[in-house]
Amino acid sequence: MKILSIESSCDETSVAVTEGRTVLSNIVATQIAEHRIYGGVVPEIASRRHTEAISRVCDEAIAEAGITYNDIEAVAVTFAPGLIGALLVGVNFAKGLAMSLGVPLIPVHHLRSHIAANYIVHPDLEPPFLCLLVSGGNTVIAEVTDYTSFNILGGTRDDAAGECFDKTARCMGLEYPGGVTLDKIATEADLKKYPLPFPKSGGGEFDFSFSGLKTAVINLIHNASQKNEAIDIPVLCATVRQRVCDMLISATLEAAEKFGYTKIAVAGGVSANSELRARLDGECKKRGYSLYYPPLKYCGDNAAMVGVQGYYELRDGNIAGCDLNATATLPINYR
Ligand code: KG4
Repeated sequence: MKILSIESSCDETSVAVTEGRTVLSNIVATQIAEHRIYGGVVPEIASRRHTEAISRVCDEAIAEAGITYNDIEAVAVTFAPGLIGALLVGVNFAKGLAMSLGVPLIPVHHLRSHIAANYIVHPDLEPPFLCLLVSGGNTVIAEVTDYTSFNILGGTRDDAAGECFDKTARCMGLEYPGGVTLDKIATEADLKKYPLPFPKSGGGEFDFSFSGLKTAVINLIHNASQKNEAIDIPVLCATVRQRVCDMLISATLEAAEKFGYTKIAVAGGVSANSELRARLDGECKKRGYSLYYPPLKYCGDNAAMVGVQGYYELRDGNIAGCDLNATATLPINYR
């Protein structure tokens, strides 16, 4: 079944054509350069750019897949969570397309689709498995009990991991999106130089808290600038990265051990982080666990992952009517 899928939850306009777990085309038009001058995504600009780009990106996805619109058998779209104005552009475009083609409309949860990015490249990956979901807006440890069934074990009590990277990087004067730059320039010369906290949330066993670390970095930078002291930015980057990875890795491994999972997947933009990948790889090898993460091109927002998750949503009867609305926040295990 050929599914045309649409992603517009943040600053990437993406349209793909997929068939099961196979990607026939995946076009991504990124707005990063435009938001960079503001140091972060400006929601209204994002919506306007989606509106301008979506038709063209859709035509390109159809052309690259070597098909016509009449070959499309369903339309999948990210409807939640995300920037509301940005989501609405994709949702309305998808509704019009599904209606005009007379095919089913499939609502896809953004985090579920990040997990599905793993299905594209790991044919052996099937639920149940444990997933660490780390993106710019969300940080969650979930049991993937089936393709459309999830159990949340823990999540962030405040900022997401990506947000912590982006905001601390911005304070260090690094370019948006800061997480990417921070990871690139981090130099592990002396990780004791800056006494940043090893945060642990006081909440649930597998919950995270990143705001204390973020505040510690902001205070450290302000104090240094008041005293006219230089900061070793690459070392500070490495220290922040280590603290965030410590928290993510220890919670994931503890959850795997407690609930008996030997298959672990990582998903979301932060799954591109080099330290997170390398350290989790080592820890999983030691324990004999299988570790899955997407290749870099499927870590960030893209429509191919929406199409693959859409395939399973449709199979499980998750079809929307023309009253489908976008939702800014929605847990992954919504019903
Ligand atoms: O999943 P994503 O593309 O968008 C959301 O759905 O949120 O994630 C974007 C986030 C940003 O915070 C970005 O800084 C972070 O992923 N990110 C990274 C890396 N690559 C992207 N964070 C740390 N290290 C990276 N290599």
